[in-house]
This record gives sequence, structure tokens and C-alpha cells, in this order.
Amino acid sequence: MNVQPIEERIEKVLFSAEEIERRVAVLGERISRDYTSGGFSRDPKGRPPVLVCVLRGAMVFMADLIRRIPTEVEYDFICVSSYGNGTSPGAVRLVKDLDRPIYERDVLIVEDIIDTGHTIDYLRRGFAARDPASIRICTLIDKRVRREVPVEIDYVGFTMDTDEFIIGYGMDYAELYRNLPCIAVLKPEYIR
Ligand code: PRP
Repeated sequence: MNVQPIEERIEKVLFSAEEIERRVAVLGERISRDYTSGGFSRDPKGRPPVLVCVLRGAMVFMADLIRRIPTEVEYDFICVSSYGNGTSPGAVRLVKDLDRPIYERDVLIVEDIIDTGHTIDYLRRGFAARDPASIRICTLIDKRVRREVPVEIDYVGFTMDTDEFIIGYGMDYAELYRNLPCIAVLKPEYIR
């Protein structure tokens, strides 16, 4: 194992830990206000929204976001993965499903990044088939320059108009760097 601190492998920081913290706080307040003012809530039983964390990248964002929401929420986890074999571009595989039903619930999908849009499109369609009361989407990063499938996003932390590969705050390169507190670009010599 390489004992060098991973921060030394950063080429440049795109979003600092402080910037992320401020932005997550704004999103949390907005989500809380939208669901409690009734505007977004459709649940016939008046239950709190279910935040769905898309594993594994969104784990760090989700953990911070829920603590910036001062009103009731529930949460659940789903894990999906791209096939990435080149034969079926955009194909998504379900690795772990939700633990609980979302029938007639207000669902807020929480992503770290929306890139081509295939993953969120797969999730939104799959959830819609379970007859939830509503489905909304929150992403920390909207990398819209890479979009292949149109997606309507309700809450966006940051929009990226460049196609740089980013790591940190849950996002990985070859499973590393998810524990960086900022979002950054890796030095080219660490890309194999
Ligand atoms: C990332 C991210 C999204 C997806 C977005 O997950 O967390 O789920 O890619 O890409 P798309 O818009 O092009 O579909 P990844 O497959 O890297 O897995 P991870 O969450 O385990 O890091």
C-alpha cells in the first residue's frame, strides 16, 4: 500500500470542502422547505420523503445532505453498476435493490454525479414502475456536457461545463480517492 497522502496526487481542486459544505447546506434547506411547505409532497398519507442514496459514490454527499435537512426524512440505499463492457453502452445493472417499498411515497434520488444520464434514467424508470407518489432528483454534480439521455434534475449542487474526470467526496478512480474531502482532478501520472 502506498503511504503517501492522497491529497498530494491532486492536480487541481475544482470544489473545495468549504464550497461543498456551503452548497450542501443550501440544498438541504431547499429540500426541507419544498417538502414541508407541501409543494412537492404527494404522499396521500403525509409521510416524509424517502431519500434514496445511489451507492456507492453518493454515500458521502448523502451523509452530509441529510444532516442539513432539519425536518423528517427517511432513507434507503440502492446500488447499481454500469456494465462497461462496450457491447451495450449505457446498460445499467441492479446490484442491490431498495429494502422497502416506495409505493405512494415521495422519493428523492440522491446522486453524486449525473454524467451521460443513463444511470438516473434507469433508476427513474424503475422507480416509476413501483407507483411512488412522486420522484425527484438531486445531484451534487451535473456534468451536462456528457449528457446522452435527457434528464430533468430538481436539485443541482454544481454544474460542470468541462469534461474533466473528477475524484473525491465519494467519487473514485479505480476505487480510490472517495475519501478526499474536496472534488479534484487527479495528476495524470496517477491515471493508469
Ligand atoms: C457514477 C455515479 C452515477 C453514475 C453517473 O457511478 O455515481 O451513479 O456514475 O453516470 P451516468 O450518468 O453516465 O450514468 P459509478 O458507476 O462510477 O459507480 P460508483 O457510484 O460506485 O462510483
